[in-house]
Amino acid sequence: MLARRHALPGAIATPCLNAASPSFGSRYFRLPSSTRRSHNSAADNSRRIPEPPRRDLFGRVAIVTGAGSRGDELGVGRAVAMLLARDGAAVVCVDRNLGHAQRTVEMLRNHDTPQQQQKQPPRAIAVEADVTRDTDCAAAVSQALNAFGRVDVLVNSVGVLGPPGTAVEVECQEWARGMEINVTSMMLMARHSIPAMRKNQGSLASSRRAGQEDDGHSALCGSIVNIGSVAGLRGGTPSLLYPTSKGAVVNMTRAMAAHHGAEGIRVNCVCPGMLYTPMVCGANGMSPETREARRRRSLLRTEGNAWDCATAVRFLAGDEARWITGSILTVDAGATAAVSINLS
Ligand SMILES: NC(=O)c1ccc[n+]([C@@H]2O[C@H](COP(=O)([O-])OP(=O)(O)OC[C@H]3O[C@@H](n4cnc5c(N)ncnc54)[C@H](O)[C@@H]3O)[C@@H](O)[C@H]2O)c1
Repeated sequence: MLARRHALPGAIATPCLNAASPSFGSRYFRLPSSTRRSHNSAADNSRRIPEPPRRDLFGRVAIVTGAGSRGDELGVGRAVAMLLARDGAAVVCVDRNLGHAQRTVEMLRNHDTPQQQQKQPPRAIAVEADVTRDTDCAAAVSQALNAFGRVDVLVNSVGVLGPPGTAVEVECQEWARGMEINVTSMMLMARHSIPAMRKNQGSLASSRRAGQEDDGHSALCGSIVNIGSVAGLRGGTPSLLYPTSKGAVVNMTRAMAAHHGAEGIRVNCVCPGMLYTPMVCGANGMSPETREARRRRSLLRTEGNAWDCATAVRFLAGDEARWITGSILTVDAGATAAVSINLS
C-alpha cells in the first residue's frame, strides 16, 4: 500500500516514476514541443509537470460536527457544511440538536450550488448525536456509511466556551465536562471515522483498475480538520478551561497527523480569532461597544464571521491541501501575528 501511494502525486518529479504508465499519462501536462524535442522519452516523461489538484469535492463524503448552529444563524459548523456541499461533497450534519442540524440541511439545499446548476440537489443528512458519547459517534459514522458509502472528510467543529474561572475558581465537574466536549469528542469522532477513511485507498485503486478517470485524489484517504482557537495559542483568556482545551486540540492535531500520515490521512487545525457567531454573541446578542472592541483587536480591524473560518476548513478538507498535514492555520485577521496591534 505504501509503495503504491508513494508512487502517486507526491513523487511526480522523480525520474524513477513510471510516468509512461497509462494510469499516469493523462494526469500530466506536457512541456511545449520545442522543449520536448531535445529529450528522449524517459527524460521527456520526467519533465512533464503534474496537473494541479482539483478544487471541487465531488464524490467526497464529509461529516461535520456541530453543524446545527442556532435557528437561522451562522455558526462555524453550519457554514462549513454549506461550503462543502456547495463544492460537491455529500454532507452529514451532526449535532446534538437534531432540529438545528435539519435546518442546516434545508439551508444547504437552498444554497446556490454547482449541483443545482446541473439539476442535482446537494446530498446531505442530519444526524442527532452527542459527540461526547462513544456510541453516538459510532452511530454517526455508520449513518454516513449507510447513506453515502464512504467517509473522506471529518470536520470536528463542536466546541463550547465552558465554565468560567481560574484554577482556584473553576468547578471541577464542569471542567471535566468542558474537556469532554472540546477535546474528547474530537478523539471519539476520529476513532470511528479513521477506519472508514482507510478503506478509501482500495476503492480508488479499483476505480483506476476499472479504467475510470483518475480523480487526482489517489494518494489520500481522508482529511480531518479540527477547530481550535487562537485562545489555544496564547494566554490572556479570562477562563482556564477554554484556552486549555483549545491548546489540547492544537497538539492533538499534530499527534494525530503523525499517527495517520503514513495511511494517507491528513489532520489539520484551524484556529479562528474572534468571529461573530451565535456562540459568542449569546442569546441576548452583543453590545455594539463589545463588538467594536473585538473588531479592533486585529491587524485588519474587520469583524470575522463563520464563513471566514469555513473557507479555510474547505481548503484543508480538499485536495488542494494534499501536501498539508499537522498544520495549525490561524484565521484571525492577523491578531496573533503581532505583539501589539497599536502600530501608530
Ligand atoms: N465564534 C468564535 O469566535 C470562535 C473563535 C474561535 C474558535 N471557535 C470555535 O469554533 C467552533 C464552533 O463555534 P461556533 O461559534 O460556530 O459555535 P456554535 O455554538 O454556533 O456551534 C456549536 C454547535 O455545537 C453543537 N454542540 C455543542 N455540544 C455538542 C455535543 N456534545 N454534541 C453535538 N453537538 C454539540 C451545538 O448544538 C451547536 O450547534 C467551536 O469549536 C469554537 O470553540 C469559535
